[in-house]
This record gives sequence, structure tokens and C-alpha cells, in this order.
Amino acid sequence: MINIKTITTEETYDIRKEVLRKNIPLPFEFNGDLDEDTFHLGAFKNNKLIAVSSFMKVKKENFKGEQFQLRGMATLDKFQGIGAGKLMMEKAFSILKELNIDCLWCNARIIAVNFYEKQGLETIGEKFDIAFIGEHYVMFKYLN
Ligand SMILES: CC(C)(COP(=O)(O)OP(=O)(O)OC[C@H]1O[C@@H](n2cnc3c(N)ncnc32)[C@H](O)[C@@H]1OP(=O)(O)O)[C@@H](O)C(=O)NCCC(=O)NCCS
Repeated sequence: MINIKTITTEETYDIRKEVLRKNIPLPFEFNGDLDEDTFHLGAFKNNKLIAVSSFMKVKKENFKGEQFQLRGMATLDKFQGIGAGKLMMEKAFSILKELNIDCLWCNARIIAVNFYEKQGLETIGEKFDIAFIGEHYVMFKYLN
């Protein structure tokens, strides 16, 4: 069984480093990590943290209303595909709806686009490159 809980910024770091920053010379700490509105979710299996994600109040010109950006979505390799990512997204949707947030968006790596589509997000605009990581799409979902 997988449980989703809010976690601290520091608790996200090991999985960010392992899954998102291996051989990538970019910081594992993000602008906004410690902002008052930011929250971080962790997925736990048998009390072990297996996946993390972070949600920050960041506006993007493409979208209307109150917006949050999803960053640092990562599941440890050997625990991918067992529902941790989906459960974190569902928890985030419910928290964001409670906060009356209109739109969740993210910069999605190409390999994760299908995962986000399954969670109801859609792409907007052209592919773009982020140095050291590769091609991304902006993806979004209106929540209300
Ligand atoms: C993308 C990622 C976060 C998904 O997390 P996860 O915990 O493995 O996802 P889940 O097990 O909850 O999968 C939910 C659904 O998405 C599917 N899915 C998961 N990863 C997928 C992928 N990369 N491509 C296509 N489908 C995917 C699963 O098969 C599952 O489908 P189902 O609901 O029909 O059974 C994880 O694979 C990961 O950490 N990848 C490497 C880092 C990364 O790319 N992060 C995103 C940065 S933008």
C-alpha cells in the first residue's frame, strides 16, 4: 500500500538527486522550494519514501487565474509503475482545489508526457529544450 503525505523540502532532495539530477549539472534545490505557498508531497511504501513532487505558486502567461507549477516529480526507478506518481497527482489536485487554484502546469520531459496525459494534463505550444535535460512540453490542467 502506498501512502501520500506532505514532506519537507529537504526530504525531496535525495530522490531528486537520484532520479532527476544524475549526471546533470543543474541544482537539485529549486527557486520557490521554501516559499510560504509551496508544498511537497511524498509517496511512502512500507514507510520508505519512494517518490516526491513539489508544487509552487508560479504564474505563466499562457494560463488564467490562480496557478501552481509542478516541479521535481520523480519516482525511484525500482518503484516506477506501481501508482506512486498517480496518487501524488490525485492528492495534489485535491489540495489545489481546496485552495481554489484554477490551473496546475509543468514543464514535462518528453518521456513523462504520457504519464501526465493519464493524469488529465494536456500539452500546449511547441517542444522546447532545457539545457542538459532535453526536450520538454508545457502541460496543464484546469482544476475547477
Ligand atoms: C514519470 C514518473 C514520475 C511516473 O511516476 P510513476 O510513479 O512511475 O507513475 P505511476 O506508477 O503512478 O503511473 C501512473 C500511470 O502512468 C503510466 N506511466 C508511468 N510512467 C510513464 C511513462 N514514463 N510513460 C508512459 N506512461 C507512464 C503508468 O503505466 C500508469 O498507467 P495506468 O494508470 O494505466 O496503470 C516516473 O516514471 C519517473 O520518475 N520518471 C523519471 C523522472 C521523470 O521523468 N520525471 C518527470 C519529470 S517532468
